[in-house]
Amino acid sequence: MPTEFISLTFPNASTELKPIPNATIDPNYLVRYARTLDDHEFNYTLVPYDSSYFDPFTVGATIATVTKNLKVIIALRPNTLYPTVAAKALATLDQLSSGRAVVHFIAGGSDAEQAKEGDFLNKEERYARLEEYIRILRRAWKSPDPFDWDGKYYQFKQFSNKVRPVNGTIPVSVGGSSDEAYRIGGSLADIFGLWGEPLKETKEQIDRIYAESDKAGRSENNRPRIWVTFRPIIAETDELAWVKAHATLDALTTNRALGQGKAPPNAPPPQNVGSQRLLDIASRGEVQDRALWYPTVTATNARGASTALVGSHQTIIDSILDYVDLGAELISIRGYDNLNDAIDYGRYIVPGVRKVLQERSNGSTA
Ligand SMILES: Cc1cc2nc3c(=O)[nH]c(=O)nc-3n(C[C@H](O)[C@H](O)[C@H](O)COP(=O)(O)O)c2cc1C
Repeated sequence: MPTEFISLTFPNASTELKPIPNATIDPNYLVRYARTLDDHEFNYTLVPYDSSYFDPFTVGATIATVTKNLKVIIALRPNTLYPTVAAKALATLDQLSSGRAVVHFIAGGSDAEQAKEGDFLNKEERYARLEEYIRILRRAWKSPDPFDWDGKYYQFKQFSNKVRPVNGTIPVSVGGSSDEAYRIGGSLADIFGLWGEPLKETKEQIDRIYAESDKAGRSENNRPRIWVTFRPIIAETDELAWVKAHATLDALTTNRALGQGKAPPNAPPPQNVGSQRLLDIASRGEVQDRALWYPTVTATNARGASTALVGSHQTIIDSILDYVDLGAELISIRGYDNLNDAIDYGRYIVPGVRKVLQERSNGSTA
């Protein structure tokens, strides 16, 4: 499979550098951002989920309408939607977009965040529910006949689905870094999403996911495809990029102190293992490998993807290729100055990585 690129959807001009408190959706901005990704040949955009944030399905449908090739990854927490409803909603989006829908499952990393929308299961149970949920969706997408379900978390009778995905099914992604995430994602997912960790730790995580995939009886060429996420800070030269990185860190730190950061100033330590791992690695040093930079992790309490890659275009291209060589097939890059960074990545990083990969494949077939 070719290496593919992912970005994150931004519905308005608010950024972590210049937050606009209570910003509503700016339809012109949303469309411009989505078309920028499509024009620059990003493959996917993730529409994220948060208990206090916009509805990913309507945002995702809007993106699909104004783009040609960009695939829309809907972030979905099982507690927010009954699985038969989710199966039809995703298949509806898939038909509207001619087969460009993808779903990214979030079991839920924080008890407090889950409780905000009435979910009081513990994390182990949230993952067990996710497993059942994925099985129901896959059955609903393919079953020609009405079917009953008598599971631990869901029971229904004679569900009959007339809304089929264009290509028979919809790619299922799972994200997380806990044992449960590896088990459910490794055994069931088409794609497994990770945040940016050093090469050694990323390799360890990939090995864990593959081991769970093997344990579930999946063949070597049917393992989940690996997705890794970075926040590149790029400039013409390494030196200029580091100046930009420190200005970015100053803005993140100041905004958090003012209560305008993604995490409040006095946020407790995160409960999800993925964020705990990032903070642990951050405590070991600022820079890992070529250019993986961790102070942005500490400054934001590892709230969401937060590891930066800092450097010239070539440094970032080389760093991304390190992860491709490790087995990552999907590379998520989004910046801090969202729209301008997407344009820069589209001009320099995405084609730069593809060019090297093309040269390599020409070389191997010559
Ligand atoms: C690539 C990626 C994207 C994610 N997107 C979201 C999101 O949109 N909303 C959200 O609440 N959590 C998101 N998460 C967080 C995890 O899915 C969540 O913390 C997980 O359910 C539990 O994490 P754990 O297994 O590491 O403890 C994302 C994680 C990854 C790796």
